[in-house]
Amino acid sequence: MSIQKIGVIGIGQMGSGIVQIAALAGFEVLACDQTEGHNKKAQVFIEKQLGKLVEKGKLTGEAQSAALAKIKWTNNLSDFVGTDLIIEAITENVAAKHELFIQLDKTCEAKTILATNTSSISVTGLAAVTKRPHQVIGMHFFNPVPVMKLLEVIRAVQTDDATYQTAVAVGEKLGKSVVTAKDSAAFIVNRTLLPFLNEAIFTLYESVGTAEDIDKAVKLGLNHPMGPLELCDFVGLDTLLAVLDVMYKEFGDTKYRACPMLRKYVEAGWYGRKVGRGFYKYS
Ligand code: CAA
Ligand code: NAD
Repeated sequence: MSIQKIGVIGIGQMGSGIVQIAALAGFEVLACDQTEGHNKKAQVFIEKQLGKLVEKGKLTGEAQSAALAKIKWTNNLSDFVGTDLIIEAITENVAAKHELFIQLDKTCEAKTILATNTSSISVTGLAAVTKRPHQVIGMHFFNPVPVMKLLEVIRAVQTDDATYQTAVAVGEKLGKSVVTAKDSAAFIVNRTLLPFLNEAIFTLYESVGTAEDIDKAVKLGLNHPMGPLELCDFVGLDTLLAVLDVMYKEFGDTKYRACPMLRKYVEAGWYGRKVGRGFYKYS
């Protein structure tokens, strides 16, 4: 299927990056967050990111204007009629995603493919709440979206070949290298990453090292670009806890039990960089 118009819902850290790369790749983009205030904040962020690319000489002023002209904003799901593909990037919460997919399924034309950027939630379960389960798929981008080269494409058990091929083609047009993952909680990358990040939090919880030393040790000892606690703050502690809880529930294995320190920080609202506090404080 030929995709011209992409809808993105949830314009936080991930959604803003998806909107940016989709507009730069020449798609018409309709972006939607919860309120006009959320939209405005995301719009300013995207304009700033594109401005940085122009300053660095990586984008011309004309290409910046062309990309910005491709992006339209709304807070109303009824405006998504006419989109060929919708990529959902709202908070990692099963009930909220199910509710959104039910609404989108009612609102959108039969042709529209519904994709989710979930980090862990069953794509098969999301497909099952719609009347178009064969047109539901996982498109899992990585943070920061404009920089990270990977896209995991996750087929629900109901996904048809045409939907799968379309998602792969869109991913490639967005400049990503695509891998295909089975619909198993947390897919490939997060299945391997989350136990590592959780263990780093336990290492801090048990005072094996300070946060600074744990990050320094992993950066210098393993050549990682970021320490694990820095990466936790970067991803969002709320998202990490939600992913671990899905893994724990799905696999029933205590190796996925979230560190109590992570749960406590999320209860405190210390979600990481996006709110100014996580394992570190940000100005
Ligand atoms: N948005 C867009 N571009 C960004 C960016 C952002 N948020 N942050 C950094 N960049 C760009 C910079 O502009 C810079 O571009 P140029 O080379 O063109 O100048 C480039 O990335 C490198 O940035 P910096 O020099 O500022 O910093 P750095 O070298 O330390 O790199 C980083 C920053 C790319 C984020 C790097 O630290 C890194 O790769 N960290 C690990 C990220 C990672 O593991 N992501 C996956 C998280 S897990 C996930 O996404 C899945 C999930 O479901 C939870
Ligand atoms: P975020 O908290 O930065 O952004 C979520 C956005 O969704 C917020 O702007 C919020 O206002 C909006 N939102 C919530 N409910 C909504 C609704 N019903 N309608 C419209 N907008 C709504 O989160 P994020 O880090 O961008 O993560 C979003 C999704 O992407 C999650 O499913 C997460 O698991 C996944 N993901 C995150 C990362 C990461 O590193 N942060 C990487 C890959 C995938």
